[in-house]
Amino acid sequence: MKNNHSNIKKAKFFLNKKECIAIPTETVYGLAANAYSDKATSRIFKLKKRPKKNPLIVHYHNLKKLKKDCILNDNFFKLFKKFSPGPLTYVLKLKINNKISKNVTNKKKTLAVRFPENSLTRKLLKEIEYPLAAPSANISTKISPVCAEDVKDEFGKKIKFILNGGRSKIGLESTIVSLVNKPQILRLGGTTISSINKILKSNLKFNKKIKKIMVPGQGKVHYSPGIPIRLNANKPKPDEAFILIKKRKLSGKNIYYLSKTKNLKEAAKNLYKIIRMVKNKKFKKIAIEKIPNLGFGQAINDRLSRASKY
Ligand code: TXA
Ligand code: MG
Repeated sequence: MKNNHSNIKKAKFFLNKKECIAIPTETVYGLAANAYSDKATSRIFKLKKRPKKNPLIVHYHNLKKLKKDCILNDNFFKLFKKFSPGPLTYVLKLKINNKISKNVTNKKKTLAVRFPENSLTRKLLKEIEYPLAAPSANISTKISPVCAEDVKDEFGKKIKFILNGGRSKIGLESTIVSLVNKPQILRLGGTTISSINKILKSNLKFNKKIKKIMVPGQGKVHYSPGIPIRLNANKPKPDEAFILIKKRKLSGKNIYYLSKTKNLKEAAKNLYKIIRMVKNKKFKKIAIEKIPNLGFGQAINDRLSRASKY
């Protein structure tokens, strides 16, 4: 507790100096900086080697702060009430007099916003005067980090400070829903489409074509461990690590499983963790079993299909 207090103080110190730091969220760790500052946000792009045209998600503590920058609507309020704080990102219209740095939006008139649930990050957001722009804390196109050690694995000494909030409990990025006009799902993630449809009384589906235009960062190659991944595999070849959806009586140093009982939420939580582990064990290739395309399985399959385009 005392430790957390001094770590939040340190985090604030670096952020106030317009540095970027890593913050824990329930989805994945973020590389955070003052969203109102050109200098601070330009550092995010540099450290991540992220193309300038790819806009950032901005993290807020509460509605009062968000209202200063964005125009809110009924669909937003419905979803906010149910899912925030949590793994859902909303794309909203920016107010004309918003204070968001132009680096964040790539000249768009919209902003992606989120209210992370992790308690340390919420405390931090409460104590600072500005919201935090924070993409996932990985080098562009690579696998997102789900704990402080993963962030170190990505950036080494280049990162000034990591606020350690333990392991991310969701383990996959947030779902992105655009509420600018008619609601649209732009990215699958930690909130299922069916739970969003229930609240909006809608029948939204994930449409890859729309997403390509609206979400420039969701290019084909993404979430890549840097080694080939073979999908829908029945058994491994001799040089492959084999990732199973469910624990089975298979033994070998190359066997990993995503969940004990084929639980897709547990599998999502373990996905990046296991892929990073396999890569660090110097396997040259990965084979992975077919994952059911339901609920969290849809988000897992989306990430795997992009990771396999290496
Ligand atoms: O779970 C998450 O969302 C994590 C944690 C750290 O919050 N963040 C994250 O950020 O995944 P990032 O930058 O890795 O992915 C954000 C995606 C990008 O694909 C970007 O193109 C899209 O959001 N995006 C940002 N602003 C947008 C906007 N105004 N309209 C449409 N898409 C936008
Ligand atoms: Mg990312």
